[in-house]
Order: sequence, then structure tokens, then C-alpha cells
Amino acid sequence: MRSLFKNIKLLVQTEETPVSLVKGKDMAKLNNISDAYLLVEDGVIKDFGKQSDMPQNLNADKIYDVKNKFILPSYCDSHTHLVYAGSREIEYNDKIQGLSYEEIAKRGGGILNSAKLLNNTSEEELYKQSEKRIDEIISYGTGAVEIKSGYGLTTEGELKMLRVIQKLKQNKPIEIKSTFLGAHSIPAEYKNHKQKYIDLIINEMLPNIAKENLADYIDVFCDKGFYTPDDTDQILKAGAKYGLVPKIHANELDYSGGIQIGVANKALSVDHLEYTGDAEIEALRNSQTMPTILPGAAFFLNMIYAPARKMIDAGLPVALASDYNPGSSPSGNMKLIMTFGAVNHKMTINELINAVTINGAYAMGLSHKVGSIAKNKKANFYITKEIPSLEYLPYSYGSNLVEKIFLNGQEQ
Ligand code: NIG
Ligand code: FE
Repeated sequence: MRSLFKNIKLLVQTEETPVSLVKGKDMAKLNNISDAYLLVEDGVIKDFGKQSDMPQNLNADKIYDVKNKFILPSYCDSHTHLVYAGSREIEYNDKIQGLSYEEIAKRGGGILNSAKLLNNTSEEELYKQSEKRIDEIISYGTGAVEIKSGYGLTTEGELKMLRVIQKLKQNKPIEIKSTFLGAHSIPAEYKNHKQKYIDLIINEMLPNIAKENLADYIDVFCDKGFYTPDDTDQILKAGAKYGLVPKIHANELDYSGGIQIGVANKALSVDHLEYTGDAEIEALRNSQTMPTILPGAAFFLNMIYAPARKMIDAGLPVALASDYNPGSSPSGNMKLIMTFGAVNHKMTINELINAVTINGAYAMGLSHKVGSIAKNKKANFYITKEIPSLEYLPYSYGSNLVEKIFLNGQEQ
């Protein structure tokens, strides 16, 4: 099956020689081809270039005329918690009245509230609710996503979440990676016995998850009031025995040491990063770890913003992800994440596009497959509505500007 896309006003994020990530000054560079064509064969990108250089008599089963419209690679959202039960909008009232994230957590709200809901929801029902969210993010232009467990906090609940993620992997056209986040919070019954819960994670949850091969990565919420760097180190080392690479929550609430312990354990990414100073930037330099900022959470919780500008200017790469979850970021809209990245993190358009495509792909171990328009990569991309410029995407923050979506070369 061959599909040909002709007269593309702008083909965005093209790569002749694919790279796995972009950092520092290179984040401000983006290769685009104006007045372009794109050829897709059997789900992968076969060829692309200037319309004027298109080979004559190219035969295709389907031809799309993309006049006045752009084609962009699908968003790569490397951090979500989109498998959850119910919602937590009631808690938002407490938030508006001034309660902090930690205070809400202490009251048994927050993550523990979602855990209660999840443990009372069947696997089938959880799948149904989560599938809706996957369909929604696909319609916004996302083509690869990471999903975490962490609302079970019991062996059974964590396995249930991971099985739902596995089913989504099997049934949905989007690329999915799964992360085990048993250490997302401390269940109330272990409040004064945190080590006992860590032992449960290490001795019961991990072996069962490994037996069913349910996780690609492992995560810990390494922050004030949750897990310390020592706790995190124990859990990550136990995960490494099963081949689970870390992607961790770090430095959202304080200079927690999470960034350093993540880098020391060769984390693929460290995420949140509101509290990032010189020592943290130094730790990240020369590491293989992708600093991942979650602008939706900082916006929604009205917290300080991660110093993206300082990080990029120091030569680091940055990925942006949605953190789609019921408490701190109930949206998986990556175009809106770009707007937050521009307004609150002072990132420029090319930096934003790189952050939500190739760098997000890297943070999921997927940059060889998705994250740019390159030959032999998956044909995961979307056609925009008629737009005047690339800048128009984050600028027009309330509008869905996706017209047609292609995943594995198939129109959705
Ligand atoms: O990434 N920071 C920890 N975990 C989530 C919040 C989850 C929740 O509140 O349910 C986050 O923001
Ligand atoms: Fe998160």
C-alpha cells in the first residue's frame, strides 16, 4: 500500500541523517521543506523532498493533495498516567482554597484518592475509561505515549493497571511504552512503615510484573514527603535486576536529590524538574538522561516553573510531556503543552517542536522509530488545518488544528 502526499505547504522536522535527540543550541534548529511531497509505503516513510524534485510517474494507491496545509510528525508524549479510574475535580476546590499538593496528599486526597478509586474498579471498566483518553490524545495528534502504573499501590492494583496498558498496546495503533510506578505514594497503612512498602515493591510487585513482562521502565516519585534518594536507589537497583531502565519523578517539590540519583542509575529521563539549580544541571551534563519538563502540572498546580531556558542555554536537551493524570494535569493536549512551554518556559518554536517530538521519542527509547520525518521511520504524522505559520500552533492555544491523522500510514 503506497500513499502519496503532494503540495505540502511545509513538511516539518525532516531528517536526512536521523539523530536520537537534540540538545543546547541545536534545539533551535529544525529542518523543514516547503512545497514538499511525502511517500509512505506499508506503514513507513519511504521518501520525501521538494515537490519540484518528485520523481515523475510515481504510482500510489492513494493521493492526498495537502495544499496550504502542514505535515508534522506526531507528538511523542513521554510521561503520562492516563490509565486511572474516575476523576478528581472535587479536589480542585481545596486547591483553589489554598491547600498545597502535599497538604491534599496528607489528607488522604491526591494519589491515594485515585488509588482507592482504582482498586474499586474492574479491569474491564478501567480499560474502557483509559481507551477513551487514548482516543482523545490520538485526535490531538499524539502518535507515541508512555503510560505509568502507580494508582494501584497494591500488588493486585499495580498488575491490573499494567495489564490494561498491555491491552492498549495490543489494540491501539499508537506506540505505547509502560512504566511501573509502584513507588508513586505511600499507602496509608504503611505511613509509618515505608520500608515495609518498599520491600513489598521489591519482593512481590517486581517479580510478578517481570514474570508477565508487563513493564518497559521503572519510576519512583523521589521528592519531599514521598521517597528519598536512598529509597529511590534501592528500588531502581531492584528494578535493574529485571532489566527495567529508570524514568523517574524528580525535583517537583524541592531540591530532592532525585535528579542526581536518577543520573547515577542511568535513568533514561528525569521528569518535572521545577527545582533545578546549578548542581542538578551539572549532574545532567554528559549524562544520557533526558531532562523532561511537564509544563501542564506546574501550570495547573500554580507552582514554580522548571528553568528550561537555563537548561537549554547550558547545553542540555529538554523534552516536554503532558503528565496527563487526574490530579496535577488532567489533559493530554500536547499543543497546549507547547503553549505553556512558550509562555512559561520561554522556549522558541523550533525548541518546542524538538521537545515534543524527537526528544520525547528519546525519553521513551523510541527515537529510531518515531519523532521525525525520516526514511524508514513509522509513518506517524498529522496534516494540519490551513495555518499561516508553524508559530500559529502554540499561538492559537484553544483550537484543535489537526485535520487528518496517520498512524502506521493509516488514516485514523
Ligand atoms: O506527575 N508527581 C507525582 N505524580 C503525578 C501526580 C499524580 C496525581 O496527583 O495523581 C505527577 O504530577
Ligand atoms: Fe507524573
